Amino acid sequence: MDLNKVARAMVSNRRGILAADESIATMSARLEKVGVEPTAESRRVYRELIVTTPELADSISGVILADETFHQRVTDGRTFPDYLSDIGILTGIKVDTGAKPLAGAPGETVTEGLDGLRERVADYVRLGAAFAKWRAVITIGDNTPTDRAIRANLHALARYAGLCQEGGLVPIVEPEVLMDGTHSLARCREVSTAVLRALFEELDLMQVQLDGIVLKPNMVVAGSGSSDQPTVADVAQATVETLRETVPASVPGIAFLSGGQRPELATQHLGAMQKLDPLPWELTYSFGRALVGPALETWRGEDKNRGRAQEVLSGLALANAAAR
Ligand code: 13P
Repeated sequence: MDLNKVARAMVSNRRGILAADESIATMSARLEKVGVEPTAESRRVYRELIVTTPELADSISGVILADETFHQRVTDGRTFPDYLSDIGILTGIKVDTGAKPLAGAPGETVTEGLDGLRERVADYVRLGAAFAKWRAVITIGDNTPTDRAIRANLHALARYAGLCQEGGLVPIVEPEVLMDGTHSLARCREVSTAVLRALFEELDLMQVQLDGIVLKPNMVVAGSGSSDQPTVADVAQATVETLRETVPASVPGIAFLSGGQRPELATQHLGAMQKLDPLPWELTYSFGRALVGPALETWRGEDKNRGRAQEVLSGLALANAAAR
């Protein structure tokens, strides 16, 4: 497996990655919110709606699945990974098992999932996965993040990345600094810089091959509760400057999470960043909510809304491809 080739395929040709890997609990809550009873079958039907969106491969290079969906089948009997492969989209798999309270750090979490990961990676590769994802969560507050939380999370992230590469999967390395809070853009930049510096130290320590990863960071934004919201140009500039200071040029691509931004705003930020030459890496999207949120709202579990929901998803995916 040529990790660099796969990583480049994930971020090139103006395409991006669709994150459809919500945990069973998160997906169930989102379905209930739009009036759909959450069951394994309703989650399957919703994920099938997403992946069967016409011409999805024009704007999407890879779809990240949760373990449940990875083992489910689309209506014609193909597994999700086989179906995606047939339409020219790479399959990704979320392999972390979630953010759990970190001992000694009230209010902070550490993402778990390293136990048995070598064996799980081997199974996912055998069943058609090309890349993986692990999300570390960093919170900004009066006394957070602590060094404890940063080090614990990034150490785990680097060990995950090493295991993926050893087993033949490209790791999406996702250190998410949350937007929750009233902090300023400057504070988000300061924390994001510290987190990314610590990340590349850990990746180096674990001998992770940087040209065989995709970095999935937050954009540098103000807290969602801040009354001082920056302009699109400010976010683009702060984000690109932060990345230039911390991310080696050997990383082939950076694919942002949307983090709760409105879809149009996330797309505008992505577009504004492309103009800030020179960019040593591809800058693309790996959105969840900013790609599928409005489609889920449109669908609401009704078969008659299916086509319209797919049009909404397709429209957002194409808008992001155009922004690149
Ligand atoms: P959002 O774009 O909704 O933040 O989700 C991306 C993701 O994969 C979070 O892990």
